Amino acid sequence: MSAADPCIVVILGASGDLTHRKLIPALYEMDRLGALDARTQVLGVSRRPKTDEAFRAELSEGARAAAGAAFDAQAWDRLARRVHYLAGDAATADAWPAIARTIHELDAKHGTRGNVLFYLSVAPELYAPIVTQIDAAGLVTEGKRWCSIDPARRSWQRIVVEKPFGSDLDSARALNRALGSVFEEDAIYRIDHYLGKEVVQNLLAFRFANAIFEPVWNANFVDHVQITASETLGVGSRTSFYDQTGAIRDMIQSHLMQIMAFVAMDPPSSFTPAMINAEKRKIVESIQVPSAAEAARHGALGQYAGGDFAGVHEQAYADLPGVAPGSSTETFAALRFTFDNWRWGGTPFYVRTGKRMAAKRTEVVIQFKEPPANLFRSISGTRVPGDRMIIQIAPGERFSLRFNSKVPGAGLSLRPVEMVMDYRTEFANDSVEAYGPLLVDAMRGDQTLYKTREETEDAWRAVMPFLGPESAALRAGIRSNYVPGSWGPAAARDLLARDGRAWHDE
Ligand code: BG6
Repeated sequence: MSAADPCIVVILGASGDLTHRKLIPALYEMDRLGALDARTQVLGVSRRPKTDEAFRAELSEGARAAAGAAFDAQAWDRLARRVHYLAGDAATADAWPAIARTIHELDAKHGTRGNVLFYLSVAPELYAPIVTQIDAAGLVTEGKRWCSIDPARRSWQRIVVEKPFGSDLDSARALNRALGSVFEEDAIYRIDHYLGKEVVQNLLAFRFANAIFEPVWNANFVDHVQITASETLGVGSRTSFYDQTGAIRDMIQSHLMQIMAFVAMDPPSSFTPAMINAEKRKIVESIQVPSAAEAARHGALGQYAGGDFAGVHEQAYADLPGVAPGSSTETFAALRFTFDNWRWGGTPFYVRTGKRMAAKRTEVVIQFKEPPANLFRSISGTRVPGDRMIIQIAPGERFSLRFNSKVPGAGLSLRPVEMVMDYRTEFANDSVEAYGPLLVDAMRGDQTLYKTREETEDAWRAVMPFLGPESAALRAGIRSNYVPGSWGPAAARDLLARDGRAWHDE
Protein backbone atom coordinates (compact mmCIF):
# COMPACT_ATOMS: atom_id res chain seq x y z
CA MET A 1 0.00 0.00 0.00
CA SER A 2 1.41 3.42 -0.93
CA ALA A 3 1.85 5.97 1.86
CA ALA A 4 -0.51 8.91 2.22
CA ASP A 5 0.96 12.04 0.62
CA PRO A 6 1.51 15.08 2.82
CA CYS A 7 -1.33 17.56 2.31
CA ILE A 8 -3.51 20.24 3.81
CA VAL A 9 -6.98 18.95 4.66
CA VAL A 10 -9.27 21.97 4.31
CA ILE A 11 -12.57 21.26 6.04
CA LEU A 12 -15.23 23.68 4.83
CA GLY A 13 -18.05 23.76 7.37
CA ALA A 14 -15.73 22.86 10.22
CA SER A 15 -18.06 23.87 13.07
CA GLY A 16 -20.47 21.08 12.23
CA ASP A 17 -21.20 17.89 14.02
CA LEU A 18 -19.45 15.78 11.37
CA THR A 19 -16.08 17.44 12.00
CA HIS A 20 -16.32 16.94 15.75
CA ARG A 21 -17.86 13.48 15.85
CA LYS A 22 -16.30 11.82 12.82
CA LEU A 23 -13.63 13.63 10.80
CA ILE A 24 -11.26 14.76 13.53
CA PRO A 25 -11.58 11.56 15.59
CA ALA A 26 -10.84 9.64 12.38
CA LEU A 27 -7.78 11.77 11.55
CA TYR A 28 -6.56 11.42 15.13
CA GLU A 29 -6.88 7.65 14.93
CA MET A 30 -5.15 7.47 11.55
CA ASP A 31 -2.31 9.70 12.81
CA ARG A 32 -1.94 7.62 15.95
CA LEU A 33 -1.64 4.51 13.77
CA GLY A 34 1.01 6.23 11.64
CA ALA A 35 -1.16 6.37 8.52
CA LEU A 36 -0.87 10.16 8.02
CA ASP A 37 2.25 11.91 6.82
CA ALA A 38 3.74 13.87 9.74
CA ARG A 39 3.69 17.06 7.63
CA THR A 40 -0.05 16.90 6.99
CA GLN A 41 -2.03 19.88 8.34
CA VAL A 42 -5.75 20.44 8.92
CA LEU A 43 -7.41 23.79 8.27
CA GLY A 44 -10.98 24.22 9.51
CA VAL A 45 -13.05 26.97 7.92
CA SER A 46 -16.39 28.08 9.26
CA ARG A 47 -18.31 31.28 9.79
CA ARG A 48 -17.95 31.70 13.55
CA PRO A 49 -14.75 33.46 14.67
CA LYS A 50 -12.57 31.49 17.06
CA THR A 51 -8.91 30.96 17.79
CA ASP A 52 -6.87 27.89 16.86
CA GLU A 53 -6.69 27.05 20.58
CA ALA A 54 -10.46 27.25 21.08
CA PHE A 55 -11.03 25.09 18.00
CA ARG A 56 -8.53 22.49 19.20
CA ALA A 57 -10.11 22.42 22.66
CA GLU A 58 -13.57 21.79 21.14
CA LEU A 59 -12.22 19.06 18.92
CA SER A 60 -10.38 17.30 21.70
CA GLU A 61 -13.72 16.57 23.37
CA GLY A 62 -14.98 14.78 20.27
CA ALA A 63 -11.73 12.84 19.92
CA ARG A 64 -11.84 11.84 23.58
CA ALA A 65 -15.46 10.75 23.34
CA ALA A 66 -14.79 8.68 20.22
CA ALA A 67 -11.65 7.00 21.56
CA GLY A 68 -13.04 6.30 25.05
CA ALA A 69 -10.58 4.65 27.40
CA ALA A 70 -8.06 4.23 24.57
CA PHE A 71 -7.59 8.03 24.23
CA ASP A 72 -3.88 8.83 24.00
CA ALA A 73 -3.27 12.46 25.04
CA GLN A 74 0.22 12.56 23.53
CA ALA A 75 -1.01 11.31 20.19
CA TRP A 76 -3.82 13.87 20.32
CA ASP A 77 -1.36 16.72 20.96
CA ARG A 78 0.69 15.59 17.98
CA LEU A 79 -2.31 16.05 15.71
CA ALA A 80 -3.81 19.07 17.51
CA ARG A 81 -0.66 21.12 16.86
CA ARG A 82 -1.32 20.64 13.14
CA VAL A 83 -4.97 21.78 13.32
CA HIS A 84 -5.73 25.41 12.40
CA TYR A 85 -8.84 27.52 12.14
CA LEU A 86 -9.97 30.37 9.94
CA ALA A 87 -13.30 32.21 10.13
CA GLY A 88 -15.04 32.86 6.82
CA ASP A 89 -18.06 32.07 4.70
CA ALA A 90 -16.60 29.75 2.10
CA ALA A 91 -19.58 30.23 -0.23
CA THR A 92 -18.66 33.90 -0.79
CA ALA A 93 -15.71 35.41 -2.66
CA ASP A 94 -14.73 37.61 0.31
CA ALA A 95 -13.51 34.65 2.33
CA TRP A 96 -11.15 33.24 -0.27
CA PRO A 97 -8.19 35.61 -0.29
CA ALA A 98 -7.62 34.72 3.39
CA ILE A 99 -8.25 31.00 2.84
CA ALA A 100 -5.86 30.89 -0.12
CA ARG A 101 -3.23 32.86 1.81
CA THR A 102 -3.47 30.51 4.79
CA ILE A 103 -3.18 27.46 2.53
CA HIS A 104 -0.03 28.91 0.90
CA GLU A 105 1.50 29.81 4.26
CA LEU A 106 0.84 26.40 5.75
CA ASP A 107 2.16 24.77 2.62
CA ALA A 108 5.38 26.79 2.66
CA LYS A 109 5.92 26.23 6.37
CA HIS A 110 5.18 22.53 6.56
CA GLY A 111 6.21 21.26 3.14
CA THR A 112 2.88 19.79 2.05
CA ARG A 113 3.94 20.09 -1.61
CA GLY A 114 0.89 22.05 -2.74
CA ASN A 115 -1.40 19.08 -2.09
CA VAL A 116 -4.82 20.09 -0.87
CA LEU A 117 -7.74 17.88 0.12
CA PHE A 118 -10.89 19.99 0.28
CA TYR A 119 -13.64 18.43 2.39
CA LEU A 120 -17.15 19.81 1.88
CA SER A 121 -19.00 19.37 5.14
CA VAL A 122 -21.72 21.90 4.33
CA ALA A 123 -25.33 21.88 3.14
CA PRO A 124 -25.55 20.42 -0.40
CA GLU A 125 -26.83 23.69 -1.87
CA LEU A 126 -23.46 25.26 -0.98
CA TYR A 127 -21.38 22.70 -2.92
CA ALA A 128 -21.58 24.49 -6.28
CA PRO A 129 -20.90 28.03 -4.95
CA ILE A 130 -17.93 26.79 -2.92
CA VAL A 131 -16.43 24.88 -5.84
CA THR A 132 -16.72 28.04 -7.96
CA GLN A 133 -14.78 29.97 -5.29
CA ILE A 134 -12.07 27.31 -5.01
CA ASP A 135 -11.58 27.64 -8.75
CA ALA A 136 -11.68 31.45 -8.77
CA ALA A 137 -9.03 31.50 -6.02
CA GLY A 138 -6.71 29.61 -8.37
CA LEU A 139 -6.28 26.73 -5.98
CA VAL A 140 -6.75 23.93 -8.51
CA THR A 141 -3.64 23.29 -10.55
CA GLU A 142 -4.53 19.99 -12.18
CA GLY A 143 -5.79 20.45 -15.73
CA LYS A 144 -5.67 24.25 -15.44
CA ARG A 145 -3.72 26.74 -17.50
CA TRP A 146 -3.01 29.05 -14.59
CA CYS A 147 -2.85 28.62 -10.89
CA SER A 148 -1.51 30.21 -7.79
CA ILE A 149 0.34 27.07 -6.66
CA ASP A 150 3.50 26.21 -8.57
CA PRO A 151 2.47 23.50 -11.09
CA ALA A 152 6.06 22.40 -11.47
CA ARG A 153 5.73 20.71 -8.09
CA ARG A 154 3.14 18.26 -9.49
CA SER A 155 0.84 18.83 -6.64
CA TRP A 156 -2.69 17.50 -6.46
CA GLN A 157 -5.94 19.04 -5.30
CA ARG A 158 -8.85 16.77 -4.55
CA ILE A 159 -12.31 17.32 -3.23
CA VAL A 160 -14.32 15.09 -0.90
CA VAL A 161 -18.07 15.55 -1.12
CA GLU A 162 -20.45 14.33 1.56
CA LYS A 163 -23.88 12.86 1.05
CA PRO A 164 -26.66 13.59 0.34
CA PHE A 165 -25.28 14.05 -3.14
CA GLY A 166 -28.09 16.26 -4.45
CA SER A 167 -31.71 15.72 -3.53
CA ASP A 168 -32.89 14.02 -6.72
CA LEU A 169 -31.59 12.93 -10.10
CA ASP A 170 -31.63 16.43 -11.62
CA SER A 171 -29.83 18.11 -8.73
CA ALA A 172 -27.25 15.29 -8.62
CA ARG A 173 -26.57 15.80 -12.33
CA ALA A 174 -26.20 19.57 -11.83
CA LEU A 175 -23.82 18.95 -8.94
CA ASN A 176 -21.75 16.53 -10.99
CA ARG A 177 -21.51 19.14 -13.73
CA ALA A 178 -20.46 21.85 -11.24
CA LEU A 179 -17.76 19.63 -9.71
CA GLY A 180 -16.62 18.44 -13.13
CA SER A 181 -16.14 21.98 -14.40
CA VAL A 182 -13.38 22.51 -11.82
CA PHE A 183 -12.05 19.08 -10.83
CA GLU A 184 -11.16 16.08 -12.98
CA GLU A 185 -13.23 12.97 -12.17
CA ASP A 186 -10.18 11.34 -10.59
CA ALA A 187 -9.95 14.25 -8.15
CA ILE A 188 -13.60 14.00 -7.02
CA TYR A 189 -14.18 11.77 -4.01
CA ARG A 190 -17.89 11.15 -3.33
CA ILE A 191 -17.68 9.72 0.13
CA ASP A 192 -20.01 7.15 1.70
CA HIS A 193 -18.85 6.19 5.15
CA TYR A 194 -20.51 2.78 4.84
CA LEU A 195 -17.79 1.85 2.35
CA GLY A 196 -15.28 2.48 5.13
CA LYS A 197 -16.88 -0.17 7.33
CA GLU A 198 -14.78 -3.29 7.67
CA VAL A 199 -17.58 -5.78 7.08
CA VAL A 200 -18.80 -3.95 3.98
CA GLN A 201 -15.29 -4.18 2.52
CA ASN A 202 -15.06 -7.78 3.61
CA LEU A 203 -18.08 -8.57 1.43
CA LEU A 204 -15.73 -8.40 -1.54
CA ALA A 205 -13.07 -10.58 0.09
CA PHE A 206 -15.69 -13.03 1.35
CA ARG A 207 -17.28 -13.35 -2.07
CA PHE A 208 -14.23 -13.22 -4.32
CA ALA A 209 -11.38 -14.68 -2.25
CA ASN A 210 -13.29 -17.94 -1.70
CA ALA A 211 -14.45 -20.46 -4.25
CA ILE A 212 -17.37 -21.89 -2.31
CA PHE A 213 -19.82 -18.98 -2.10
CA GLU A 214 -19.87 -17.53 -5.59
CA PRO A 215 -21.44 -20.60 -7.28
CA VAL A 216 -24.54 -20.31 -5.06
CA TRP A 217 -24.66 -16.49 -5.04
CA ASN A 218 -27.44 -16.12 -7.59
CA ALA A 219 -31.14 -16.50 -8.31
CA ASN A 220 -30.84 -20.30 -8.66
CA PHE A 221 -29.99 -20.69 -4.98
CA VAL A 222 -30.93 -17.43 -3.26
CA ASP A 223 -34.62 -16.95 -2.52
CA HIS A 224 -34.26 -13.29 -1.54
CA VAL A 225 -31.97 -10.84 0.24
CA GLN A 226 -32.82 -8.49 3.13
CA ILE A 227 -30.72 -5.45 3.93
CA THR A 228 -31.56 -3.68 7.18
CA ALA A 229 -30.18 -0.55 8.84
CA SER A 230 -32.41 0.13 11.82
CA GLU A 231 -31.67 2.72 14.49
CA THR A 232 -33.13 3.26 17.94
CA LEU A 233 -32.31 6.98 17.93
CA GLY A 234 -34.84 9.49 16.71
CA VAL A 235 -34.15 12.40 14.41
CA GLY A 236 -32.90 14.44 17.38
CA SER A 237 -31.90 18.00 16.65
CA ARG A 238 -31.50 17.48 12.90
CA THR A 239 -35.17 18.07 12.08
CA SER A 240 -34.78 20.87 9.57
CA PHE A 241 -32.23 18.83 7.57
CA TYR A 242 -34.12 15.59 8.01
CA ASP A 243 -37.55 16.93 7.09
CA GLN A 244 -36.13 17.93 3.70
CA THR A 245 -34.36 14.60 3.34
CA GLY A 246 -36.12 11.54 4.79
CA ALA A 247 -34.93 7.98 5.14
CA ILE A 248 -34.70 7.14 1.42
CA ARG A 249 -32.35 10.05 0.65
CA ASP A 250 -30.51 9.84 3.97
CA MET A 251 -29.84 6.10 3.99
CA ILE A 252 -31.12 4.12 0.99
CA GLN A 253 -29.94 6.14 -2.01
CA SER A 254 -26.48 6.23 -0.47
CA HIS A 255 -25.44 3.72 2.21
CA LEU A 256 -27.81 0.84 1.53
CA MET A 257 -27.43 1.11 -2.22
CA GLN A 258 -23.67 0.68 -1.70
CA ILE A 259 -24.15 -2.41 0.42
CA MET A 260 -26.60 -3.81 -2.11
CA ALA A 261 -24.10 -3.19 -4.92
CA PHE A 262 -21.35 -5.08 -3.04
CA VAL A 263 -23.70 -7.99 -2.35
CA ALA A 264 -25.09 -8.19 -5.88
CA MET A 265 -22.27 -7.17 -8.25
CA ASP A 266 -20.41 -9.56 -10.53
CA PRO A 267 -16.74 -10.29 -9.84
CA PRO A 268 -14.50 -7.50 -11.16
CA SER A 269 -11.72 -8.58 -13.51
CA SER A 270 -9.14 -7.23 -11.03
CA PHE A 271 -9.17 -5.57 -7.64
CA THR A 272 -8.65 -2.08 -9.02
CA PRO A 273 -10.85 1.00 -8.59
CA ALA A 274 -11.75 1.13 -12.28
CA MET A 275 -12.84 -2.52 -12.48
CA ILE A 276 -14.68 -2.54 -9.14
CA ASN A 277 -16.49 0.65 -10.02
CA ALA A 278 -17.37 -0.71 -13.46
CA GLU A 279 -19.10 -3.73 -11.87
CA LYS A 280 -20.83 -1.58 -9.28
CA ARG A 281 -22.09 0.68 -12.01
CA LYS A 282 -23.44 -2.30 -13.98
CA ILE A 283 -25.41 -3.67 -11.05
CA VAL A 284 -26.90 -0.33 -9.99
CA GLU A 285 -27.75 0.41 -13.60
CA SER A 286 -29.58 -2.92 -13.88
CA ILE A 287 -32.05 -2.15 -11.05
CA GLN A 288 -35.56 -2.32 -12.48
CA VAL A 289 -36.99 1.14 -11.91
CA PRO A 290 -40.66 0.70 -11.00
CA SER A 291 -43.51 2.56 -12.62
CA ALA A 292 -45.66 4.78 -10.37
CA ALA A 293 -48.20 1.98 -9.97
CA GLU A 294 -45.48 -0.56 -9.13
CA ALA A 295 -43.81 1.84 -6.68
CA ALA A 296 -46.97 1.84 -4.55
CA ARG A 297 -46.68 -1.94 -4.23
CA HIS A 298 -42.86 -2.07 -3.92
CA GLY A 299 -42.48 0.22 -0.94
CA ALA A 300 -43.67 0.93 2.59
CA LEU A 301 -43.05 4.26 4.31
CA GLY A 302 -43.49 5.28 7.91
CA GLN A 303 -43.18 8.09 10.43
CA TYR A 304 -42.66 7.30 14.10
CA ALA A 305 -45.32 8.08 16.65
CA GLY A 306 -44.55 9.52 20.08
CA GLY A 307 -44.12 7.33 23.10
CA ASP A 308 -41.86 5.79 25.68
CA PHE A 309 -38.99 3.72 24.44
CA ALA A 310 -35.96 2.49 26.37
CA GLY A 311 -37.15 4.55 29.35
CA VAL A 312 -37.21 7.80 27.38
CA HIS A 313 -40.29 9.65 26.21
CA GLU A 314 -39.96 11.21 22.80
CA GLN A 315 -42.36 13.26 20.79
CA ALA A 316 -43.84 11.96 17.59
CA TYR A 317 -41.77 12.95 14.55
CA ALA A 318 -44.67 15.06 13.28
CA ASP A 319 -44.67 17.12 16.50
CA LEU A 320 -40.94 17.88 16.62
CA PRO A 321 -39.97 21.56 16.28
CA GLY A 322 -38.68 22.13 12.76
CA VAL A 323 -40.92 19.52 11.12
CA ALA A 324 -43.31 21.14 8.64
CA PRO A 325 -47.01 20.88 9.54
CA GLY A 326 -48.51 17.91 7.71
CA SER A 327 -45.01 16.70 6.69
CA SER A 328 -45.04 13.38 4.85
CA THR A 329 -41.27 12.86 5.17
CA GLU A 330 -40.50 9.22 5.95
CA THR A 331 -38.49 8.20 9.02
CA PHE A 332 -38.87 4.59 7.90
CA ALA A 333 -38.67 3.09 4.43
CA ALA A 334 -38.75 -0.46 3.12
CA LEU A 335 -38.24 -0.86 -0.62
CA ARG A 336 -38.28 -3.90 -2.85
CA PHE A 337 -35.64 -3.91 -5.58
CA THR A 338 -35.20 -6.33 -8.47
CA PHE A 339 -32.47 -6.52 -11.09
CA ASP A 340 -32.71 -6.92 -14.81
CA ASN A 341 -29.75 -9.26 -15.07
CA TRP A 342 -29.03 -12.95 -15.41
CA ARG A 343 -27.59 -13.45 -11.95
CA TRP A 344 -30.52 -12.03 -9.98
CA GLY A 345 -33.57 -12.28 -12.27
CA GLY A 346 -36.51 -13.20 -9.97
CA THR A 347 -34.69 -12.71 -6.64
CA PRO A 348 -35.93 -9.60 -4.79
CA PHE A 349 -33.73 -7.51 -2.50
CA TYR A 350 -35.74 -5.95 0.35
CA VAL A 351 -34.04 -2.92 1.84
CA ARG A 352 -35.27 -1.18 4.97
CA THR A 353 -34.13 1.53 7.33
CA GLY A 354 -35.74 3.58 10.06
CA LYS A 355 -35.34 5.73 13.14
CA ARG A 356 -36.74 4.81 16.59
CA MET A 357 -36.93 1.14 15.75
CA ALA A 358 -36.63 -1.90 17.99
CA ALA A 359 -32.84 -2.22 17.76
CA LYS A 360 -29.73 -0.68 16.21
CA ARG A 361 -28.89 -3.22 13.57
CA THR A 362 -27.12 -3.08 10.23
CA GLU A 363 -27.06 -6.39 8.44
CA VAL A 364 -27.47 -8.33 5.23
CA VAL A 365 -29.51 -11.53 5.25
CA ILE A 366 -29.07 -13.93 2.36
CA GLN A 367 -32.00 -16.32 2.44
CA PHE A 368 -31.24 -19.44 0.44
CA LYS A 369 -33.93 -21.58 -1.15
CA GLU A 370 -35.29 -24.71 0.46
CA PRO A 371 -33.67 -27.96 -0.67
CA PRO A 372 -35.19 -29.06 -4.00
CA ALA A 373 -36.41 -32.32 -2.47
CA ASN A 374 -37.44 -33.00 1.10
CA LEU A 375 -36.19 -36.45 2.11
CA PHE A 376 -37.25 -35.76 5.69
CA ARG A 377 -40.93 -35.20 5.00
CA SER A 378 -41.95 -37.96 7.36
CA ILE A 379 -40.33 -36.14 10.32
CA SER A 380 -40.22 -32.49 9.36
CA GLY A 381 -43.56 -32.15 7.63
CA THR A 382 -43.69 -30.56 4.24
CA ARG A 383 -40.77 -28.13 4.54
CA VAL A 384 -37.14 -27.97 5.55
CA PRO A 385 -36.19 -24.29 6.02
CA GLY A 386 -33.72 -22.83 3.57
CA ASP A 387 -30.23 -21.99 4.84
CA ARG A 388 -29.57 -18.42 5.83
CA MET A 389 -26.45 -16.32 5.95
CA ILE A 390 -26.38 -13.20 8.12
CA ILE A 391 -23.67 -10.65 7.56
CA GLN A 392 -23.79 -8.35 10.56
CA ILE A 393 -22.22 -4.95 10.15
CA ALA A 394 -23.37 -3.37 13.45
CA PRO A 395 -23.52 -3.71 16.39
CA GLY A 396 -20.74 -6.28 16.45
CA GLU A 397 -19.27 -7.61 13.26
CA ARG A 398 -19.89 -11.19 12.28
CA PHE A 399 -20.71 -13.60 9.49
CA SER A 400 -23.02 -16.44 10.41
CA LEU A 401 -24.53 -19.30 8.47
CA ARG A 402 -27.63 -21.08 9.67
CA PHE A 403 -28.14 -24.58 8.34
CA ASN A 404 -30.17 -27.63 9.29
CA SER A 405 -28.64 -30.28 11.51
CA LYS A 406 -29.66 -33.59 12.98
CA VAL A 407 -30.28 -33.23 16.68
CA PRO A 408 -27.99 -35.78 18.45
CA GLY A 409 -29.66 -38.88 19.86
CA ALA A 410 -31.67 -41.81 18.80
CA GLY A 411 -34.21 -41.16 16.12
CA LEU A 412 -34.09 -38.34 13.65
CA SER A 413 -35.14 -34.82 14.23
CA LEU A 414 -33.84 -31.64 12.59
CA ARG A 415 -33.10 -28.23 13.91
CA PRO A 416 -31.33 -25.17 12.50
CA VAL A 417 -27.83 -24.50 13.93
CA GLU A 418 -25.36 -21.65 13.40
CA MET A 419 -21.74 -21.42 12.31
CA VAL A 420 -20.22 -18.08 13.27
CA MET A 421 -17.17 -15.97 12.42
CA ASP A 422 -17.03 -13.09 14.90
CA TYR A 423 -14.49 -10.29 14.42
CA ARG A 424 -13.86 -9.91 18.16
CA THR A 425 -12.80 -13.51 18.66
CA GLU A 426 -11.22 -13.97 15.26
CA PHE A 427 -9.21 -10.76 14.92
CA ALA A 428 -9.12 -9.59 18.55
CA ASN A 429 -9.31 -5.92 17.67
CA ASP A 430 -11.96 -3.32 17.19
CA SER A 431 -12.44 -1.92 13.75
CA VAL A 432 -11.41 1.68 13.25
CA GLU A 433 -13.84 4.53 12.59
CA ALA A 434 -14.98 4.20 8.95
CA TYR A 435 -13.98 7.73 7.91
CA GLY A 436 -10.28 7.25 8.71
CA PRO A 437 -9.26 4.73 6.06
CA LEU A 438 -11.41 6.54 3.49
CA LEU A 439 -9.62 9.84 4.15
CA VAL A 440 -6.26 8.11 3.91
CA ASP A 441 -7.36 6.58 0.58
CA ALA A 442 -8.16 10.08 -0.71
CA MET A 443 -4.67 11.22 0.34
CA ARG A 444 -3.22 8.25 -1.57
CA GLY A 445 -5.34 8.88 -4.65
CA ASP A 446 -7.25 5.59 -4.31
CA GLN A 447 -10.89 5.82 -5.41
CA THR A 448 -11.79 2.14 -4.89
CA LEU A 449 -14.13 2.93 -2.01
CA TYR A 450 -15.64 6.08 -3.48
CA LYS A 451 -18.65 6.51 -5.74
CA THR A 452 -18.48 7.45 -9.37
CA ARG A 453 -20.52 10.03 -11.18
CA GLU A 454 -22.57 7.51 -13.14
CA GLU A 455 -23.25 5.27 -10.19
CA THR A 456 -24.53 8.19 -8.11
CA GLU A 457 -26.93 9.18 -10.85
CA ASP A 458 -28.12 5.60 -11.40
CA ALA A 459 -28.77 5.24 -7.66
CA TRP A 460 -31.00 8.32 -7.78
CA ARG A 461 -32.83 6.97 -10.83
CA ALA A 462 -33.66 3.77 -8.91
CA VAL A 463 -35.27 5.58 -5.96
CA MET A 464 -37.01 8.47 -7.74
CA PRO A 465 -40.41 6.69 -8.05
CA PHE A 466 -40.45 6.41 -4.24
CA LEU A 467 -39.74 10.12 -3.79
CA GLY A 468 -41.55 12.17 -6.41
CA PRO A 469 -45.27 12.93 -6.77
CA GLU A 470 -45.76 9.30 -7.81
CA SER A 471 -45.06 8.31 -4.20
CA ALA A 472 -48.21 10.08 -2.94
CA ALA A 473 -50.04 6.76 -2.49
CA LEU A 474 -47.19 5.42 -0.34
CA ARG A 475 -47.28 8.54 1.82
CA ALA A 476 -51.03 8.56 2.46
CA GLY A 477 -51.61 7.89 6.16
CA ILE A 478 -47.89 8.00 6.99
CA ARG A 479 -48.30 10.25 10.06
CA SER A 480 -47.37 8.37 13.28
CA ASN A 481 -47.98 5.02 11.59
CA TYR A 482 -45.44 3.10 13.67
CA VAL A 483 -44.78 2.79 17.36
CA PRO A 484 -41.29 3.61 18.67
CA GLY A 485 -39.41 0.43 19.47
CA SER A 486 -41.19 -1.57 16.77
CA TRP A 487 -39.98 -2.87 13.40
CA GLY A 488 -41.86 -0.20 11.45
CA PRO A 489 -45.37 0.17 10.06
CA ALA A 490 -47.65 -2.76 9.24
CA ALA A 491 -47.16 -1.93 5.55
CA ALA A 492 -43.53 -3.15 5.82
CA ARG A 493 -44.74 -6.57 6.91
CA ASP A 494 -47.34 -6.58 4.12
CA LEU A 495 -44.63 -5.79 1.56
CA LEU A 496 -42.98 -9.16 2.22
CA ALA A 497 -46.22 -11.00 3.02
CA ARG A 498 -47.45 -10.22 -0.51
CA ASP A 499 -44.49 -12.28 -1.75
CA GLY A 500 -45.13 -15.03 0.84
CA ARG A 501 -42.09 -13.96 2.90
CA ALA A 502 -41.35 -12.33 6.26
CA TRP A 503 -38.62 -10.13 7.73
CA HIS A 504 -36.25 -12.47 9.48
CA ASP A 505 -36.73 -10.90 12.92
CA GLU A 506 -40.51 -11.05 12.92
C1 BG6 B 1 -25.71 9.02 8.35
C2 BG6 B 1 -27.15 9.47 8.38
O1 BG6 B 1 -25.19 9.13 7.05
O2 BG6 B 1 -25.63 7.66 8.79
C3 BG6 B 1 -27.72 9.33 9.78
O3 BG6 B 1 -27.24 10.82 7.94
C4 BG6 B 1 -27.52 7.92 10.30
O4 BG6 B 1 -29.11 9.66 9.81
C5 BG6 B 1 -26.07 7.47 10.12
O5 BG6 B 1 -27.86 7.91 11.67
C6 BG6 B 1 -25.91 6.00 10.46
O6 BG6 B 1 -24.55 5.68 10.41
P1 BG6 B 1 -23.97 4.46 11.24
O7 BG6 B 1 -22.54 4.38 10.83
O8 BG6 B 1 -24.17 4.79 12.69
O9 BG6 B 1 -24.78 3.26 10.85
